[in-house]
Amino acid sequence: MGKAAFISLLIAALSALLGERIVNFRKVTLASRELVQNHLPNCVALKNLDFGSEDITIIGDGLAFISTGLKYPGIASSDTPGKIYTLDLKDSRMKPMELRMPRNFDLESFNPHGISVYIDPEDSIYLFVVSHPQHKSQIEVFEFVEDNHSLVHLKTIKHELLHSVNDIVAVGVDSFYATNDHYFTHEILKGTVEPLLAQPWSNVVYYSPEEVKVVSEGYYFANGINISPDERHVYVVDLFDHNVHVLERKDDNALVSVKSVAVGSLCDNVEVDPETGDLWLGCHPNGWKFFMSDPKDPAGSEVIQIQSIHSDKPVVTQVYADDGQVIIGSSVAATYGGKLLIGTVYHKALCCDLK
Ligand SMILES: *[C@@H]1O[C@H](CO)[C@@H](O)[C@H](O)[C@H]1NC(C)=O
Repeated sequence: MGKAAFISLLIAALSALLGERIVNFRKVTLASRELVQNHLPNCVALKNLDFGSEDITIIGDGLAFISTGLKYPGIASSDTPGKIYTLDLKDSRMKPMELRMPRNFDLESFNPHGISVYIDPEDSIYLFVVSHPQHKSQIEVFEFVEDNHSLVHLKTIKHELLHSVNDIVAVGVDSFYATNDHYFTHEILKGTVEPLLAQPWSNVVYYSPEEVKVVSEGYYFANGINISPDERHVYVVDLFDHNVHVLERKDDNALVSVKSVAVGSLCDNVEVDPETGDLWLGCHPNGWKFFMSDPKDPAGSEVIQIQSIHSDKPVVTQVYADDGQVIIGSSVAATYGGKLLIGTVYHKALCCDLK
């Protein structure tokens, strides 16, 4: 074969491969899924949260913690620095309040992503925040001081195994499980090559000062992570595989896979109702539209509830769906006292009444 013929054959083979990979990515992102509206009563947009509310977690007395201002490669974002808000769901004004940050903390590069709260036996409240200064990954641990509505910075945790962290669930004052959503750390490999390769190379890491280890792997895009009220099971959401994995926690903090539950959507964060044990998921019903972020054809939002996840027949229910006219790119859903909070990656946050 001549050199020219070889090169044209090579180009043809590469374009066929690329075409096949794009078709696969469209399938993974549910690109042709059309959404039917399924709205809830009395939804109001929360004040002050116009630059996303990627993760939300609600503690027992109805106080919600909300991360806002995420900057994530390839996804729309604002220039405003990241912030943490609280919202008291017992207060009918429904007004999110910005938490005061410590003076010794670099606010400019604060880029909050997944969050988790740990409450110790003395009722001290610790807030764990995944942050991405300069696109790196680290965990910031704060103590929440109610009296002056502020955060006190306790430590920054970095580790080579915590290379692409998306979400965490704290299990002690300085221990947690974290998801790495990508295998590669380089921007270009992460943003284009990895989604096209679509290999199950993402994982879950356990961190404590004594031990750091990979405890679960084989995810296409490990995203939200949370724990059952009895702390015996960990839930890991695989965004690109459209399911929630149930894992059993062992004495040495290892995780053993129990099963996975299909959700039919690209789910992001998972919250667990402390009373019922139900899982609440903020999902991207059409991930293709989400990644394209065309203002004329916006991505929608979807909230999914899973009841009786440990039984033989978990009940998976779509609680809310919007085609993007009301709310774009839902990433989290959390409930308290008959209210549902819906947060997004870069858009607004809603508070609705559950039917
Ligand atoms: C809030 O109070 C705590 C505890 O008294 C203190 O350490 C912290 O510096 C205060 N934060 C601000 C922002 O004033």
